[in-house]
Amino acid sequence: MRVRITGTGSYMPEKILTNADLEKMVDTNNEWIVARTGIEERRIAAEHECTSDMAAVAARRAMEMAGVTAEEIDLIVVGTITGDYPWPATACIVQAKIGAKKAFAYDLSAACSGFIYALSSANDFIRSGHGKKALVIGAETLSRSIDWTDRNTCVLFGDGAGAVVLEAGEDDTGILSCHLHSDGNYLELLYQPGFGAKHPASAAGMEAKLQFLKMQGNEVFKVAVRSLTEVSIEALNAHGYTSKDVSLFVPHQANRRILEATAKRLGLADEQTYINVHKYGNTSGATIPVALDEANRAGMLKSGDLILSAAFGGGFTWASALLRWT
Ligand code: ACO
Repeated sequence: MRVRITGTGSYMPEKILTNADLEKMVDTNNEWIVARTGIEERRIAAEHECTSDMAAVAARRAMEMAGVTAEEIDLIVVGTITGDYPWPATACIVQAKIGAKKAFAYDLSAACSGFIYALSSANDFIRSGHGKKALVIGAETLSRSIDWTDRNTCVLFGDGAGAVVLEAGEDDTGILSCHLHSDGNYLELLYQPGFGAKHPASAAGMEAKLQFLKMQGNEVFKVAVRSLTEVSIEALNAHGYTSKDVSLFVPHQANRRILEATAKRLGLADEQTYINVHKYGNTSGATIPVALDEANRAGMLKSGDLILSAAFGGGFTWASALLRWT
């Protein structure tokens, strides 16, 4: 039995923050941002919006495409590092918002790899008989964890949400495999120091800006390219495929240079790689489901296509998923 994606949906906030806007906020310029990252603009959640709001809209759109009602959903997994509250899980808030009464719901914290981790987890639940229909969501309000005076990080990130409906199927299409990895030794290259149990909220912590994401960008870059390449090859090798068999590579959208360097190492042609980082920046756990939804609605995903996805993020975590599109 295979588990397949039967619907995709996404939601991006209306507010656009361009590189020209950022030039007025920090010492940066459009040329630097485009040359180093490929990002031209990103979306920022409205004041009244948070992660569960965006996740719920994306989920409804995915369910509509799948022809599935909220009452039919057995489980909801939200990959996020910017949940509405430290606890409870944003997935429970989404469950209430969409009225998925019988679903069990939990969040999964794997930073930019959150969606593939969540996909893998829901896939395993369905395959082991714990439910037939799942919502897997990647949703982030990163704009609230960014230091908007730090030019090293604030140009990179944005907000948004993407979702897929998973259903058990009988044919050989669907998720072929997921491959997950972590290495906690790299914690301080990419993390948010406050305000968890290690550094609870305090005035001194606020003063030290511990509530904001910290990153050593060039170190992250090197490990990201290597890990994305390795985990993609691992997925292809597991099924005897090469990059030539890939119809579309849908990687985590962090930075155009990371994507292009990875695609080159994998021997993928430009037209095999889906890139939308120029429009949205890095929305962490949301990038892959948003990209999948865009590609799907543009008619780029055809039945029988081999879809490779890979992600890398804080933890460090990295992961890949290989799918035969239904
Ligand atoms: N505008 C102008 N100059 C800047 C900016 C900016 N926004 N940010 C940094 N600079 C300056 C630096 O201060 C530095 O100046 P200096 O030489 O005078 O010290 C110079 O630009 C070069 O800085 P580097 O950090 O070496 O630049 P690099 O080429 O590595 O690019 C970047 C930085 C874009 C952050 C890159 O390292 C990167 O993309 N890393 C990956 C980070 C990432 O994607 N993280 C997301 C989470 S992980 C993931 O999703 C894969």
